[in-house]
Amino acid sequence: MTGLMEKIVSLCKRRGFVFPSSEIYGGIGGFWDFGPLGVELKNNIKAWWWKTVVHSRDEVYGLDSTIIHNPRVWEASGHTLSFTDPLRECKSCHKRFRAGHIKSDKCPECGGELAEVKQFNLMFETHVGPAKETASRAYLRPETCQGIFTNFINVVDTLQPKVPFGIAQIGKGFRNEVTTGNFIFRDREFEMMELEYFVKPGEDEKWFDYWLKERLKWYTDLGINKRKLRFFEHPKSALAHYSKRTVDIEYKFPFGWAELEGIANRTDFDLKNHSKFSGKDLRFQDEKGKKFYPYVIEPSLGVERIALVLLLEAYREEKDNKGVRVFLSLDPRLSPYKVAIFPLLANKPDLVKKAKEIYENLKSKFMVAWDDIGNIGKRYRRQDEIGTFWCVTTDHQTLKDNTVTVRDRDTMKQERVKVDKLIKFFQDKID
Ligand code: GAP
Repeated sequence: MTGLMEKIVSLCKRRGFVFPSSEIYGGIGGFWDFGPLGVELKNNIKAWWWKTVVHSRDEVYGLDSTIIHNPRVWEASGHTLSFTDPLRECKSCHKRFRAGHIKSDKCPECGGELAEVKQFNLMFETHVGPAKETASRAYLRPETCQGIFTNFINVVDTLQPKVPFGIAQIGKGFRNEVTTGNFIFRDREFEMMELEYFVKPGEDEKWFDYWLKERLKWYTDLGINKRKLRFFEHPKSALAHYSKRTVDIEYKFPFGWAELEGIANRTDFDLKNHSKFSGKDLRFQDEKGKKFYPYVIEPSLGVERIALVLLLEAYREEKDNKGVRVFLSLDPRLSPYKVAIFPLLANKPDLVKKAKEIYENLKSKFMVAWDDIGNIGKRYRRQDEIGTFWCVTTDHQTLKDNTVTVRDRDTMKQERVKVDKLIKFFQDKID
């Protein structure tokens, strides 16, 4: 791991963003738990995506489908046959490696002989009901969008939208990845934010270009460095079985350029196949009564991937006279805590009482932290490290003129603000 990644991993563990899953038993590869700070960051990311992709658009609707579907869904989608990774297994230690990552016939771990390439299905299997037989076999979904396609007619019948329109979903996805790694970049359990945008055939290329621009802007609006983002056009020969065109938005991670979000033109592949397999007519009927299968443009993003990018982008170290100040310069919309509140001195009841009053009042509007441990310098450092945007301190002057010190995380500048103006002060800046 590179230096910056190591620092992020360490900060995430130390400050309660991310923990290895079932750590007390030695963990389990590719599974991560999000701690008290991490769950706030994740929830803020999901809420922002939902607000911008669903709530702020008139033509996009939300959905929350199940994780386990009727297994026929995965036959129709093509996953049972082709959601595979080519892998090679070592005949001695039985470790498995992605075929593309292996340069010789020797096992990179133990030097043993590698078997021929085998196709390995990435879907996790389970059984529905008590009988563990083929008939009860089901899968944990590897993508959330199939629940959207199987509900397509339900949404059309209930809301009668006009094309173009979209159905969006946020939820867990599971992939038994052959190799995981780079912290939360590639996991076996993760969350996806997917939009299926249904358009008229023939207008798909126009809408594809529209979503490329929209999605890139989404990242730059969040302050992600434009120079660290680029499009990667998938060569025709490497397209997924359902895709006419796929472009990834890539980010320059410390370990190299890698996919952050995928944008695919899924054509009418999924709706047509689900019609064929289910025997149900999944065509859309327009105002003139004409029936057709809409084409689908799909922007799809992993929550853990964008969380990692935001942490990498936000990490700062600054030398000062006390050593190195570490802070997370997170956008206030996404930072776990917007404001921390503390009395200058924890042993002065008047200052504590006033700080508590402010804390209780702000709590109804923002995610706020209370901190009265150690001296004020230590509290600032602690809040800086978790990305809290402002620190509010009550001091002797507060008792005289009802003002407090508001200190900005990034500039460390302090200003005095009237207590009754605090909510507006923060709200204006967050907006
Ligand atoms: N429905 C389309 C689809 O699943 P994908 O490119 O395989 O497309 C979409 O996945 C996004 O989900 C990726 O761009 C990435 O952000 C995220 N993702 C995919 N596999 C992941 C994994 N193993 N761990 C974390 N995130 C993953």
